[in-house]
Amino acid sequence: MKFVVTGAAGFIGSLLAEALLAQGHDVSAVDCFTDYYDATLKEENARGLDLQRIDLADDELDLRGIDGVFHLAAQPGVRSFGDVFDVYVRRNLVASRRVFEAAARAGVRVVFASSSSVYGDAESYPTSEDAVPRPISPYGITKHGCEELAHAYAQAFGLDVVVLRYFTFYGPRQRPDMAFARMVNALANEQPFELYGDGLQSRAFTYVADGVDATITAMSRAPAGAVYNVGGGAEATMREAIETLERVAGRNLEVMARPAAKGDVRRTAPDTERIERDLGWRATTPLADGLAAQWHWAVSRVAAG
Ligand code: UGA
Repeated sequence: MKFVVTGAAGFIGSLLAEALLAQGHDVSAVDCFTDYYDATLKEENARGLDLQRIDLADDELDLRGIDGVFHLAAQPGVRSFGDVFDVYVRRNLVASRRVFEAAARAGVRVVFASSSSVYGDAESYPTSEDAVPRPISPYGITKHGCEELAHAYAQAFGLDVVVLRYFTFYGPRQRPDMAFARMVNALANEQPFELYGDGLQSRAFTYVADGVDATITAMSRAPAGAVYNVGGGAEATMREAIETLERVAGRNLEVMARPAAKGDVRRTAPDTERIERDLGWRATTPLADGLAAQWHWAVSRVAAG
């Protein structure tokens, strides 16, 4: 089969593209190399891919001969208040609408990477897909808006779309602005880590290979219009995650207390019954194993200079 992966130079997109290639599929990889973080990291991620530079908010996505689109390109990061909102609107809402339109026209399935941040401080835990979305960050609002656009295109133009709500993916190649990437970098370089808030906020940290698995399965088996939580296996507070990393690395992390970040939710915890029932998927990687993989990856990069 031949798939488009948008955001293919990113953390999750590049690993997804590689997994598809390893399964024998053809991949049309696209990315526009935004300057949100160091583009050399994205070039490193995309090294094994034949990648086209396309800005989805402007350029046409060619879907001739394509069996499905994994739409992962986005402006990420929940700490998103301020004038930067315009960037979130363009890279999430404007770009996604054009992807949905092109896919509806071509009759091609889209698996859309949404986010646990659509729930905000959720009404209940574990949070089911039917909970009322109440995002508390501008980023989460744009992801929720993308979901609504997908739904509108499904209603109006028969778009075949599956929405996946990713829960804080981590592992090798994690985006450098995310907590674990900063923790392992700080530890590897003997620098302090800035911990936002009291450290008792918790996340259903999800190992990226588990998430990639769910994403590929959703393309092949999910019913059209389905929405799934993709997360779990490893809920931990930030303090617990730091202790786990210290154990894995055999080093102590210097922690500097910083004020809580606006837009951060207190807790994420998915109800994964629906994806387990429909797709037979569940996250299986324990936090210590996933963090060990991320730690060893970061250390080998520091050693390689
Ligand atoms: C992550 C991703 O950044 C989003 O793109 C994604 O959509 C989201 O997961 C999701 O699950 O929906 P977040 O959960 O904030 O967002 O992930 P991290 O950046 O790893 O932050 C985890 C926790 O660590 C947060 O409470 C944050 O405040 C804290 N943190 C982060 C720090 O204490 N220090 C830092 O330097 C960075």
